[in-house]
Amino acid sequence: MTSRRLIIAIDGPSGAGKGTVARALALALDYRHVDTGGMYRAVAWKAMRDGIDLTNEDAVATIANSAAFELSHGQVGIDGHDVTAAIRTPEMDAAAASVARLPKVRAALVERQRAYGIEGGVVMEGRDIGTVVFPKADVKLYLDASPEERARRRSQDPSHAASKTNAGVAVVAEALAARDQSDRTRAASPLSKAEDALYLDTTGLTIEEVVARALAAVPGRG
Ligand code: C5P
Repeated sequence: MTSRRLIIAIDGPSGAGKGTVARALALALDYRHVDTGGMYRAVAWKAMRDGIDLTNEDAVATIANSAAFELSHGQVGIDGHDVTAAIRTPEMDAAAASVARLPKVRAALVERQRAYGIEGGVVMEGRDIGTVVFPKADVKLYLDASPEERARRRSQDPSHAASKTNAGVAVVAEALAARDQSDRTRAASPLSKAEDALYLDTTGLTIEEVVARALAAVPGRG
């Protein structure tokens, strides 16, 4: 058994189930859950609201450095605005992936993410947590699922606006593939599995099955 509060890193592409698993692990372990995708989304939201061009690296990085984030219980806030719903739209999917390509924005957010997790007791989900933010995380999981399954989940995700339109799975799948391509091929910290991460293919598994496998990878809980 270990009583030390651990750092648990969960990475993987969109729709692989990271959010659901991260929330469940944080609840089971009484740890803090940090959704780093929410931070990229919130920064993109604020830049758009302030009329800043999303390719203006210095201006967007200033937001990433100085904004006050509120991240708790699945809510995302930035500088006093609750943006939980506003940041989960197809437009914000693309905007977040766009600002996430900018090295200065990444550097600013990585530093802030390290500050959230440094004392342990955290389940942090994203694209580069096990590779860049916490390369020495105690537990590293890489969640994946087939593109069809991920598109199906996204189009049924009640927290995402795509589930409220009649866009259809094919349109969602196309947008997901474009974002995956951007996340995997960008120069700055592309999405990739850390060598020492446990790869979990969640295709065809229930949430309970995935959570059980993830928990089994946590020392003292296996
Ligand atoms: O996880 P989520 O889909 O909310 O992330 C939105 C976007 O933020 C991703 O498509 C990716 O471009 C970016 N992101 C990232 N690194 C992270 C988390 C998210 O680049 N750690």
